[in-house]
Parts: sequence; structure tokens; C-alpha cells
Amino acid sequence: MNVFVTDSYEEMSRAAADVIATLVAEKPDCVLGLATGSTPIGLYAELVKDYEAGKISFAKVKSFNLDEYRGLPGDHDQSYRYFMNTNLFDHVDIDKAQTHVPDGTNPDAEAEGLAYEAAIEEAGGVDLQLLGLGHNGHIGFNEPADDFPVITHVVDLTESTINANSRLFDSIDEVPRQAYTMGIGTIMKAREILLVVNGEGKAEIVRDVLTGPVTPRVPASALQLHPKVTVVLDKEAAKLL
Ligand code: F6R
Repeated sequence: MNVFVTDSYEEMSRAAADVIATLVAEKPDCVLGLATGSTPIGLYAELVKDYEAGKISFAKVKSFNLDEYRGLPGDHDQSYRYFMNTNLFDHVDIDKAQTHVPDGTNPDAEAEGLAYEAAIEEAGGVDLQLLGLGHNGHIGFNEPADDFPVITHVVDLTESTINANSRLFDSIDEVPRQAYTMGIGTIMKAREILLVVNGEGKAEIVRDVLTGPVTPRVPASALQLHPKVTVVLDKEAAKLL
């Protein structure tokens, strides 16, 4: 595991963008696993800048996102498809037909999970999976549990997540109750992992994830068993290391 500590969110974003840009330069038809949330917004902005400066092309890149709300169509402004379009895909030359986010509208959850796994396999597997980290150690929507979930599956969102997310919707009734997520097994199959974390509020969980026991109670601790992980932190998130 290579851990880099940077001075600020901006430096963290640039350093993480460099990891992705280097891979895309070396392997223009690479398969990227992508994440949403507030952490990667800065690094996506850096990649857009690199594209606008003519330093990078996504024309042959394929992508698979970690997760999506169940029940939301891709044009809903809270869907993760919408997030990806507005933060990255709309601003670079990626072929949108080659970008994948679980289909929140598929009524058959099991079929959707299996189809997503099959699509990843067919693309040749994920070369680099980008991850953010939840305060409780979650990656994707894999929350603390008794086991590590293996493949892409549906999860029931907890009451606290539903309440926290309700600020982004007109009413709490509109907040999705479920989400699709890659499993820990799906994530661990990626050839390389890039974990990006910022802020003092995540210092404790960063310490537990990187130096504590490997346990499904801290889902991201599984990354200790992955052969190629790069962790990019700002100094606040690295405070307890
Ligand atoms: C996003 C995702 C989540 C987030 C995590 C951190 O696709 O899968 O696991 O990475 O919740 O979110 P932020 O970056 O908003 O703190």
C-alpha cells in the first residue's frame, strides 16, 4: 500500500488526478472504476482541466461506477449517473455508451447485479478503481456487516442515510430506500485501487482502515489485502497515522 499525504484538498485532488491521468496515458483504452460523493469532485475537475489543455483523452476509456440509487432514472439530479455526467462525462471526450452506472430503474435487482458483473468481465475487468471512504468505513454502499458482500447487489439504506439524504430531495418520501453497489469482491478484483480521503472527520476511520484489523465491520479494511493500493490523503485525514 502506498500512502501519500498532501497539504490540502486541492493538492490531494491533483495528486489523485495524476494517478488516473498516468494510467490513461499509458493505457488509453483502460477501464476505470469511478465513484461519486464530495471527495472526487476536485479530482474530476482536474481531469477536465487536463482534457481541456489537450494533455489527456478519454476517447477509448470505459468506465464502471461503484453504485447507484435504486428507483432513480439517470436524468434525476440526485442520481449518480447525473453526477457523473455533470462532473466529468459532459466535459471530456469519453464515449457515453462506454460509461456504465447500475440501472436504477431495472425492476429485477438480481438480474441487474449479474448483468453489471458480466459487463465488467466483458470489458476485461477494472484497471483502476477509484474509491472514497464513508465515516463508518464503507466503500460503495457496502456498510459495516457480518460478511464482505461479494458481487454487485442491492442494499437497503439505513434510516440515518435516508434522513441525511432527504436534504437533497423535495421530501423524505422521494429519497430512495435502496441502492445498487459493487460488492467488496467486485472492488477487490480491480487491478489497482485508488482511495482518496480528506478532512479531519475521517482521520479515525482512515487509521482503522489502514492499520486496524481486516474485518467486515470496517469494510474498507479489506483493501489491506489488495496487492496494489494507492491512498491519497489530505493532512487532516492523515492526522492519526
Ligand atoms: C460514492 C460512494 C461512497 C462515497 C463515500 C464518501 O460513489 O460509493 O462510498 O465514496 O460515502 O462520500 P464523500 O466523498 O461524499 O465523503
